[in-house]
Amino acid sequence: MSDGLQWGILGTGTIARRFASDIRESRTSRLVAIGSRAQETADRFAAEFGGVRAHGSYAALLADPTVQAVYIAPPHPQHLEWTLAAAAAGKHILCEKPLAVRGSDAQRMVEVARRRGVLLMEAFMYRCHPQTARLAELIRSGAIGELRMIDATFAVDFPFDAAHRAYNRELGGGGILDLGCYPVSFARRMAGAAQGRAFVEPVQFKGIGRLNATTHVDEYAAAVATFGNGIVARLACGFAGPREICARLHGTGGLIEIPTPFFPGAEARFTLRRADAAEPEEIAVPAPGPLYALEADAVADALARGEREVAAMTPADTLGNMAVLDEWLAQLGVSYEC
Ligand SMILES: NC(=O)c1ccc[n+]([C@@H]2O[C@H](COP(=O)([O-])OP(=O)(O)OC[C@H]3O[C@@H](n4cnc5c(N)ncnc54)[C@H](OP(=O)(O)O)[C@@H]3O)[C@@H](O)[C@H]2O)c1
Repeated sequence: MSDGLQWGILGTGTIARRFASDIRESRTSRLVAIGSRAQETADRFAAEFGGVRAHGSYAALLADPTVQAVYIAPPHPQHLEWTLAAAAAGKHILCEKPLAVRGSDAQRMVEVARRRGVLLMEAFMYRCHPQTARLAELIRSGAIGELRMIDATFAVDFPFDAAHRAYNRELGGGGILDLGCYPVSFARRMAGAAQGRAFVEPVQFKGIGRLNATTHVDEYAAAVATFGNGIVARLACGFAGPREICARLHGTGGLIEIPTPFFPGAEARFTLRRADAAEPEEIAVPAPGPLYALEADAVADALARGEREVAAMTPADTLGNMAVLDEWLAQLGVSYEC
């Protein structure tokens, strides 16, 4: 791929804009086209991002022969339809999280991508940042002894708006799908690292939460997950605050505090407190590029090796994560007809 991997984006919202901006600094990839439900929105976006081709529908973007890989960035309920369409068009796929609003849809997406021979990755960008690999390696090597407890929270303070996708059920609203997917994926990754594996599944999961009185999606929620090797995870998420985004890993021989587990920046740092050390150790993990360029690079690198999965976030990992989200939502009585 002399010119790099050629990307198109479906949707022109917040995260599409961020991806389009970061990919300019990718070492492997470049944006060639944008697709929007409206031609004029696509035109505006294309003009802003350096004259890429503008398509007035997602179908037109998928019919563009110059597009090799797509970034699917509409609200979650649209991920299923457009991932299936992208796979049918032979495009490789980086699809925003959560991959779908339910595990059975995600399973279908994974199967179709596999059948069509295209790569499919759920866009958990933090998995592609070297901080995540560094944390996993510290846990695997016993830097804090045996891992016992994981704390992971992703909660924001977003004012209620029944029409916004954060709270609107038809748009996949609710904190568990949008934000809780991060702490769940982080806990499964770190509990897996303790056993030298990429991820493991909880053997027990107890979730609670509060539903919004108007739209009936979860506005804040907490859960305790138990993993087979005696690790307990305390997880929390929510759109209705209070704002807290952090993680901690507690072991028999120390503690790791991670202030930016899910959005690590160019100079990510965390603190390692070993029980037998007088002083805490500040560990810096510089990133080789902007966060969303790293996931584009991970996709391009895998394709260049002839692979159809990205090791940092495989389809099997996605399906395990989706099963936990299904369980959490079921325990709260939240369902999505969309
Ligand atoms: N990885 C991350 O850091 C991260 C951060 C934020 C969000 N996300 C994920 O990215 C997805 C989009 O989130 P966002 O915050 O970017 O949303 P957003 O700002 O609301 O943008 C969504 C875009 O999707 C398109 N769209 C298609 N059908 C739509 C519909 N029925 N209603 C509204 N928009 C529709 C629209 O683009 P057109 O009108 O141009 O078609 C819209 O601009 C979600 O699945 C979310 O979980 C990921």
